[in-house]
Amino acid sequence: MPAKNQTIGEFIIENQSSFAYTSGELSRLINSIRLAAKVVNHEVNKAGLVDITGAIGGVNVQGEEQQKLDVYANERFIETLTNREIVCGIASEENDDFITIEGQNCDHKNKYVVLIDPLDGSSNIDVNVSVGTIFSIYRRVTPVGTPVTKEDFLQPGNKQVAAGYIVYGTSTMLVYTTGDGVNGFTLNPAIGTYYLSHPNMKFPETGKIYSINEGNYNHFPQGVKDYIKYCQAEEGDRPYTARYIGSLVSDVHRNMIKGGIYIYPKSSKSSNGKLRLLYECNPMAFIVEQAGGKASDGFTRILDIKPTELHQRVPFFCGSKKMVEKAEEFMENAS
Ligand code: AHG
Ligand code: MN
Ligand code: MN
Ligand code: MN
Repeated sequence: MPAKNQTIGEFIIENQSSFAYTSGELSRLINSIRLAAKVVNHEVNKAGLVDITGAIGGVNVQGEEQQKLDVYANERFIETLTNREIVCGIASEENDDFITIEGQNCDHKNKYVVLIDPLDGSSNIDVNVSVGTIFSIYRRVTPVGTPVTKEDFLQPGNKQVAAGYIVYGTSTMLVYTTGDGVNGFTLNPAIGTYYLSHPNMKFPETGKIYSINEGNYNHFPQGVKDYIKYCQAEEGDRPYTARYIGSLVSDVHRNMIKGGIYIYPKSSKSSNGKLRLLYECNPMAFIVEQAGGKASDGFTRILDIKPTELHQRVPFFCGSKKMVEKAEEFMENAS
């Protein structure tokens, strides 16, 4: 049982020995991410007061119009990780290619690569609705001392060493796993410290919330249409409640606390859905599984998919185990 009012710093020191790799490098890396998150949090909170809302006038490699905060958050995370020379490479949703960290002192000697969605839920920035950050950490597979290659980033999600998200919501929370359960920390903005507020987070085995952009209904595969009708049927504990913020981080965070399923399926408009396997689905899947939930593409476990491209997209079903299994049953029956 963790001490009452434990700070994230105390928690990391206390739990360092249970990390998969204990050199302290991973702890320093998570420390850098939480620092960058504080800086981004500060900026997000000023939206509306200073000129940081709206589009910046560029399109990213995903074909999306970049928002000012997409670019700002991307720069802060990359800068913080690069300056500390604690990773050997970074890949981001907002960058065409991965970045190799050479550094003055590290000489490609660092062991970890970070993959990041610096600002998740861009479309919610201008309307004062929760946004987030998602990160994923792997141990490199190429030899230490040489520059990273794409191979270091294209590892299946089951090789993740740690993953987490920050939700900039009514309060700011950092939720992460190192493969030993999921813990949530809430930022006290007055003193800039995160406290362990949600120890050992667990997805309820089932729930009553379904989260999907139903505006695309006509374009969904038959299995998804059938599952939506099942959620809406007047039977047993149904109809379920529909809740969709449009920020993956916030939608999954809510479902983890209350019980629910999140679906971003493929559609006749986008053959692999919208969400990115490396920056969004893998880290969220790792967290969801560590919290006792389930994550798949409707048929296959997300964490077992071998990525072929940095910006690869994949259909995403995640949440309470029983609900995801039910949705998979509908997918199977309709295929
Ligand atoms: P991002 O802002 O990082 O590009 O991600 C947006 C994603 C995700 O956060 C959200 O769940 C989804 O896009 C919403 O998409 P739709 O507007 O198509 O429903
Ligand atoms: Mn985007
Ligand atoms: Mn995103
Ligand atoms: Mn993003």
